[in-house]
Amino acid sequence: MSPLLEVRDIGKTYGSVIALRDVSTVVNAGEVTCVLGDNGAGKSTLIKILAGVHQHDRGEFLVEDTPVKFASPREALDHGIATVYQDLAVVPLMSVWRNFFLGSEPTIGFGPFKALDRRKGRETTKQALSDMGIDLRDVEQPVGTLSGGERQCVAIARAVYFGAKVLILDEPTAALGVKQAGVVLKYVAQARDRGLGVVLITHNPHHAFPVADRFLLLKRGAPLGSYEKKDIDINELTRQMAGGAELEALEHELRQVEKTP
Ligand SMILES: Nc1ncnc2c1ncn2[C@@H]1O[C@H](COP(=O)(O)OP(=O)(O)OP(=O)(O)O)[C@@H](O)[C@H]1O
Ligand SMILES: [Mg+2]
Repeated sequence: MSPLLEVRDIGKTYGSVIALRDVSTVVNAGEVTCVLGDNGAGKSTLIKILAGVHQHDRGEFLVEDTPVKFASPREALDHGIATVYQDLAVVPLMSVWRNFFLGSEPTIGFGPFKALDRRKGRETTKQALSDMGIDLRDVEQPVGTLSGGERQCVAIARAVYFGAKVLILDEPTAALGVKQAGVVLKYVAQARDRGLGVVLITHNPHHAFPVADRFLLLKRGAPLGSYEKKDIDINELTRQMAGGAELEALEHELRQVEKTP
């Protein structure tokens, strides 16, 4: 089966800044591709290309074997690529269910008699959330009252409900506590098990490792390594991310500090 998404030696410059170069990876249905890297590594640049926010200027981007260059996020969405950004484009005072539909609310009647079908909206949202195992007491409550983790979960359920083939998550667990991060990762795994291809961006190897099938490590815009899960363990992944030898030197230094009274 061909991958849902594939990038081959992709690159992007902003003026004189090389934000990304020679990056290759695949996203398969029912799998999680995890993009790891420190600040400024090029993670957001990569997903912005996949999401149609920016265009690559080198290499190839293929969607189900067809080379593409999206002119807008709308175009990416039309290809079934849904992106959940860290700051989540939600309207905090609007209810959970209105945010769930945002722009595609169900209506009742037609022409000048068309009105928002609130009952259907509420029920559909509740059902879609419960299908993902998310139990929200009240979908009428403002989205602003949800925790960061709950908002991420609603956004994931929304992408699944609207039929996304690929789900891109930019650091969904960055601002979350241990327990909430665990819950979000559970829904990432659920989206994967429903057959979506997931791109998970994080700088935490402990969040990446349990759910990912492959890892793409970036450093200053360039690939640092690309691994299938079977070829790497959590310790090695952490070591690679921290820059291997650099980390050992740092640990050594810290031990010296501890020793000094
Ligand atoms: N719109 C832009 N114009 C100019 N330079 C940019 C732009 N966006 C990103 N860059 C530069 O490209 C490089 C990669 O940035 P990117 O945002 O992709 O990193 P990141 O891995 O997402 O980092 P973080 O973990 O901090 O979010 C950085 O050096 C950044 O300064
Ligand atoms: Mg980023």
